[in-house]
Amino acid sequence: MTRQLHLNLFIHSRGHHEASWRHPDASPLALTDVRYYQDLARKAEAAHFDSIFLADQLALAEDVAQSARAWLEPITLLTAVATVTERIGLIGTASTTYTEPFNLARQFASLDHISNGRAAWNIVTSWLALAAANYGGSAPLSHAERYVRGEEFMTVVKALWDSWAEDAVLDDRAGGIYAKADRIRPIAHRGDYYQVNGPLNLPRCPQGRPVLVQAGSSDTGRRFAARHAEAVFTAHMEKATAQAFYKDLKALVEAEGRRPDQALILPGLSPMIASTEAEAQRLARELNELADPEVGRKRLSGRFGGHDFSHLPLDRPLSPEDFPDPSSVEAARSRTEVILGLVRREKPTLRQLLASLAGARGHFTMAGTPEQVADLIEDWFTDGAADGFNTKPPVLPQMLAVFVEEVVPRLQRRGLFRTEYAGKTLRDHYGLATPESAFN
Ligand SMILES: Cc1cc2nc3c(=O)[nH]c(=O)nc-3n(C[C@H](O)[C@H](O)[C@H](O)COP(=O)(O)O)c2cc1C
Repeated sequence: MTRQLHLNLFIHSRGHHEASWRHPDASPLALTDVRYYQDLARKAEAAHFDSIFLADQLALAEDVAQSARAWLEPITLLTAVATVTERIGLIGTASTTYTEPFNLARQFASLDHISNGRAAWNIVTSWLALAAANYGGSAPLSHAERYVRGEEFMTVVKALWDSWAEDAVLDDRAGGIYAKADRIRPIAHRGDYYQVNGPLNLPRCPQGRPVLVQAGSSDTGRRFAARHAEAVFTAHMEKATAQAFYKDLKALVEAEGRRPDQALILPGLSPMIASTEAEAQRLARELNELADPEVGRKRLSGRFGGHDFSHLPLDRPLSPEDFPDPSSVEAARSRTEVILGLVRREKPTLRQLLASLAGARGHFTMAGTPEQVADLIEDWFTDGAADGFNTKPPVLPQMLAVFVEEVVPRLQRRGLFRTEYAGKTLRDHYGLATPESAFN
């Protein structure tokens, strides 16, 4: 079979455009209504998407007055989605900085059992400065230390997931033996950040371990991804940087002794789709006009670790000197580089920059016909930029419906995307090997 494309649905607010929540085509349901997420997951499953994804932040953003955010806790929410779906993978975000490895290993192992092998963890080290204030109040950890701690965290959770052999549970009611004690063992971890005895209090997951996803694109983030990630989310505003990232990350994965096809690269794509290009552009303009530049300015400041942009006029062309040096940013460093790349290339005014970030926060946006969107997907997929896409419909559920009805069948006719699920687990959909048990 020819190489197959992977599609993830990133569910965020009522769509990825900053103003989507107030658009007439957005869902009428509350963002705390579980049916909203269950309906979207079922729609994506009917179209044979590989997975859905929920991001997470551990603090309320300061722009809540003008932008719809309700962070239902992802693992809780994915469990509710698991009960109404059968095949689609369920990717939830959780932080290595603000949780204990034992908690996290249990939660994702539980989700993997409950969903019969569909759980995945988006590993984040949490860049949001406000989060630190909710967890003990000390200053946020530096970018470097977050990754050092994250590395030890990974050692612990992997050992916990491996602490039961596959055949440990006998459940022999007649003989009175539930489990073979010699097939379950403590991990006895003593490290710089964590002391964890183990074993996990739960049998080995259906997938061996949940699928590991990561989205850091800085140098440190890439090395971390190369060691651990089986799927990688990444943000690019042009194909050339996506290709460079793809090449670099696959080489790093190989240098870690892993097969490059065992780490899928899924750049973000937020397409506005209509029957003509002019109509798609009109829809994009209509959404941009609903966006408040002051919300965008606050969000930009958050990206640059709280840097003050309040003095910048909206209508003067920007230059790189208007921004702090990305290497000094302790927050989401790689995204600041994406933004500066755009400033260097296009010299937009602040108003124009905020409009292009409003679409999908630094991911690739386009407005076009279904054919044009399918062409772009095929081009990136076949030209070394992507193994699939993290699709980010600008308005939900409306633009997901258009993508599913108009773009997916075109990808299927071109032989690029499945027409049925071949397997049952997310590892099956992604073509990932099951991790070997430490007991074999
Ligand atoms: C598609 C995508 C989704 C992300 N989701 C989250 C998230 O839910 N929570 C979070 O704290 N960071 C999230 N991030 C940020 C990354 O995990 C990472 O922290 C950020 O890119 C900074 O790391 P870096 O400096 O290594 O690039 C996401 C990034 C991307 C590209």
